[in-house]
Amino acid sequence: MSKNYINALLKPFRESNVVGALLKLFDTGPNQGLKRVGIAKNEVPTAKSGAAQYSSGVRKVTLIPGHGIGPEITVAVQKIFEAAKVPIEWDEVDVTAVRGPDGKFGIPQKAIDSVNANKIGLKGPLMTPVGKGYRSLNLALRKEFDLYANVRPCKSLDGIKTLYDNVDVVTIRENTEGEYSGIEHEIVDGVVQSIKLITEEASKRVAEFAFQFARDNKRKKVTAVHKANIMRMSDGLFLRCCRDLATKYPDIKFEERYLDTVCLNMVQDPSKFDVLVMPNLYGDIMSDMCSGLVGGLGLTPSGNIGKNGALFESVHGTAPAIAGQDKANPTALLLSAVMMLRHLQMYQHADNIEKACFTVLKEGRVLTEDLGGKSTCSDYTAEIIKNLHVHGTAPDIAGKDMANPTALLLSAIMMLRHLQLNEHADRVQNACYEVLREGKSLTGDLGGTGKCSEYTNAIISKLN
Ligand SMILES: NC(=O)c1ccc[n+]([C@@H]2O[C@H](COP(=O)([O-])OP(=O)(O)OC[C@H]3O[C@@H](n4cnc5c(N)ncnc54)[C@H](O)[C@@H]3O)[C@@H](O)[C@H]2O)c1
Repeated sequence: MSKNYINALLKPFRESNVVGALLKLFDTGPNQGLKRVGIAKNEVPTAKSGAAQYSSGVRKVTLIPGHGIGPEITVAVQKIFEAAKVPIEWDEVDVTAVRGPDGKFGIPQKAIDSVNANKIGLKGPLMTPVGKGYRSLNLALRKEFDLYANVRPCKSLDGIKTLYDNVDVVTIRENTEGEYSGIEHEIVDGVVQSIKLITEEASKRVAEFAFQFARDNKRKKVTAVHKANIMRMSDGLFLRCCRDLATKYPDIKFEERYLDTVCLNMVQDPSKFDVLVMPNLYGDIMSDMCSGLVGGLGLTPSGNIGKNGALFESVHGTAPAIAGQDKANPTALLLSAVMMLRHLQMYQHADNIEKACFTVLKEGRVLTEDLGGKSTCSDYTAEIIKNLHVHGTAPDIAGKDMANPTALLLSAIMMLRHLQLNEHADRVQNACYEVLREGKSLTGDLGGTGKCSEYTNAIISKLN
């Protein structure tokens, strides 16, 4: 590892006045110091991989840890992202219900503003208190941001024993209307009416989303799931919209099936299906059923996609019985975060984290209790971090003041947090993110023309 490189790494810390003990640790000589804190030589990022990873700069993402086990599985995801050097800045908001002017409880304005600004978020489970005046916060979020398509991929995982090992389906659920339109009333005593609202606009956009999803993800078939034989007008309209869209996607096979038949066939032979699109309530039920086929809600990710934003979430609840005990399984939230990375076109990071997670599941040595293991959420998280891919020594650019020190700098920031030097960590991290966001002094691997030293100085200039 070159001296320049180490100096570049140390400069921001020197300038940020990190306590002497820490500097001494580094100043014992670059290699010894780094070895001591566990950063081996071969973990330095290569310029090549950096280019794809950071090409779009740092992305701000709204983070809703949620309730119950939410905060602990969120920390697990944050740790894994930090270790994988994902260029994401979390904008954490609380979504505990607040009473609005109408007397009803709803989402706090700060959370709404954050999602509106960032257009993308990751969300843990939310508790909806049972009682008058409370609305489901999940429903409220979907409505507020018009997140019209709920996408849930269900794929068999090596190491997770279920009835089938060949499940690979994606359910796409219309997320804004149908039986969830919230229009209910009592006509006379003992007679309640609930309106299932289906519109051409919402049906067309979710159908289009399903076909485009199939094309983008090299899927072969879209199945429209319906009960148009009974609900001739509402499901009939939904089905007609799917048929219309199918003509625009001749490369994707289209079929229409009754909901009951799909349920029967899905549990008999899931390999019959590929992408499924359906109205809201059918999607709610089918997507849980498909999750069950691959190991349950603790393992399945999901994304809620709208025209102006997307919210990725673990679909399980707050699991109050195990909250705060370091027992929760963070996989569903982690895989939702991986979906989010693909949505942000950060494919390398997504693949790296997903592979590490799948390896740990497959090996089966470090699993949480819900998967039959004895490990804690923290142990499982650490095991995934151990399996993340780390980079080489980049001999092609060594000694030329061309290397990107970001990955090592972020590792050093992790170390600062480990040492509870959080203020210093925040300061250096904010400076680094600001430079990445501005995009003016980037190194060649990030598409810039800056030298390692110039990039370092730019970070230092942001420290005050
Ligand atoms: N998307 C959401 O925000 C969402 C979804 C469902 C329920 N909820 C809320 O969660 C609360 C509890 O609901 P519930 O008990 O019906 O469902 P739940 O999903 O919280 O729990 C069901 C079972 O699964 C276990 N479990 C769930 N997730 C787990 C994980 N990641 N790791 C290990 N075990 C896990 C729980 O311990 C419990 O045994 C309620 O307030 C409900 O409103 C929220």
